[in-house]
Amino acid sequence: MSSKVTLSTLQKMKQSGERFSCLTAYDATFATTLDRAGVEVILVGDSLGMVVQGQESTVAVDMDDMVYHTRCVKRGVTNALIMADMPFMSYPNVDEALYNAARLMREGGAHMVKLEGGARIVDTVRVLSENGVPVCAHLGLLPQSVHKLGGYKVQGREASQAKQMLLDAEELVKAGADILLLECVPSDLALRLTQNVDVPVIGIGAGSGCDAQVLVLHDMLGLGSGVSPKFVKDFLAESGSISAAIEKYVAAVKSGEFPAKEHTFE
Ligand code: KIV
Repeated sequence: MSSKVTLSTLQKMKQSGERFSCLTAYDATFATTLDRAGVEVILVGDSLGMVVQGQESTVAVDMDDMVYHTRCVKRGVTNALIMADMPFMSYPNVDEALYNAARLMREGGAHMVKLEGGARIVDTVRVLSENGVPVCAHLGLLPQSVHKLGGYKVQGREASQAKQMLLDAEELVKAGADILLLECVPSDLALRLTQNVDVPVIGIGAGSGCDAQVLVLHDMLGLGSGVSPKFVKDFLAESGSISAAIEKYVAAVKSGEFPAKEHTFE
């Protein structure tokens, strides 16, 4: 029988070189399906803005949306660790970050929160951590800053950007970040960063050198609208059911079969 996944479970998995899986969910039914398939971390991502609400980006998602969907997911989960996104503009300063993280944990039932940013969020991460809030810091491509970045682009290809990302990762971990998440980063940089820090690193479009992988649920079930990003694999296409597709994903992440070279940026 599986047992509850905690931060120390994930920390031990990193230390022993055992990969873990993460997928997004936004409702109780899918959360139960993921939990039963052995997904260790369920992310209530602000990607719900796109895949549930039909928005063009995550920017429109607010705290009430996040609390509502986190609460739905919570009802479906027995073992997985629930990570919830702090949405756009919910952490412009430390006081608002504390208030909104507490809402996700108290009202939503999240076990940890995820914030996007590098050096900019170090002080916020420190205060959250000092107040007992487990934190995941999201680096690389930051979807909440898509309008500032000018689109969804691979981050860290230039030497100066790569150096800054490595420094930011170190500072975030020193400030108390318990997990890092890397989105759309060249695989050699992601591997170096993963080896440099002693907290688990979850990758999406960051190659197989990370400690764990995450995908948006709708993408890995082939439900994405339009062209799917290079790092996405449709697991339902080669499985007979949604549960089988999720089990296949968990197994492929653990064996290192996913992501393959074709899902990876150089
Ligand atoms: O919101 C989300 O689903 C995410 C993933 C893309 C990592 O942050």
